[in-house]
Amino acid sequence: MIQDNLFNYKNFLYLRWSVCLILVVSLAYSLDQPKIVANGGTWLGYTLGTIGAALILWLIWFGVRKRQYASTTGQLRGWVSAHVYLGLALVVVGTLHTGFQIGWNVHSLAYVLMMATIVSGLWGLVLYVRYPREMSDTLNRKDPKAIVEDIETLDKEVLRLLKSCPEHVTKAVNLSSEQLIFNQLSERRSGLVKNCATEKAIELIEKELARDDSLADLYKNQVERLKNLRQLRRYYKMRYWLDLWLAFHVPLSVGLLAALTAHIVSVFYYW
Ligand code: HEM
Repeated sequence: MIQDNLFNYKNFLYLRWSVCLILVVSLAYSLDQPKIVANGGTWLGYTLGTIGAALILWLIWFGVRKRQYASTTGQLRGWVSAHVYLGLALVVVGTLHTGFQIGWNVHSLAYVLMMATIVSGLWGLVLYVRYPREMSDTLNRKDPKAIVEDIETLDKEVLRLLKSCPEHVTKAVNLSSEQLIFNQLSERRSGLVKNCATEKAIELIEKELARDDSLADLYKNQVERLKNLRQLRRYYKMRYWLDLWLAFHVPLSVGLLAALTAHIVSVFYYW
């Protein structure tokens, strides 16, 4: 059985909603015969504008909702799925609302910010595709504390295993126990760590194992340590890109809300 994810949630429920919305507004636009050139001020323009504004408010509301839903994975996944598909449908709703009349004014500013927010949303989607498990953990506010605890347990266990080890192996493993997730902040970007002491310890023990098979448990311990370290590196790399992405997506959404308010107020003020 294929598990629900944000794309196929409930048999593509929100994709179907999104396609329906696009079809209905496109059909209405193509059938509409306004007396003036199509723009936001015709009856259809007002209808599309109302749908678009409601969608934008609902998309922004997701920021609040996601914090309230932090423990119910299913519902949250549904919200992200709806956010993505209906957010993309907004391209069509918003563009048809303008009637393709774009200029240097506050109305077009709202449109440009809307498109920029949507494009930035696609970047976030790439993170969901590349790091599905980590993104879902972050969304549910799960932190990788358990992995850190596993490493601490392995480091305690290693003290017992080192008792009968050659000195150069002990030295390498002690350095491995001091190895942090990253040596430098810049390594978070790539998730790769140059000169990882745990990797070096594994290489050394691998060579020694050919002569001394009593090091097998020590080897397993270090391989497990590296596996956990790599999981943490992947998680924190993803967090780095997630925070960077949200530093665009959220301020763009706030800017859009401000421009949308100015757009609506000016439309009704000059009515
Ligand atoms: C005008 C349109 C949009 C607005 C106003 C908007 C707004 C927001 C807001 C306020 C959040 C919550 C951020 C937070 O507080 O952490 C969010 C999250 C998100 N948005 Fe959008 N968004 C829009 C369109 C899109 C589109 C088109 C996509 C994808 C194609 C998208 C993808 C996402 C994703 C993946 C998240 C993060 C979910 C998570 O936290 O895991 N957004 N958006």
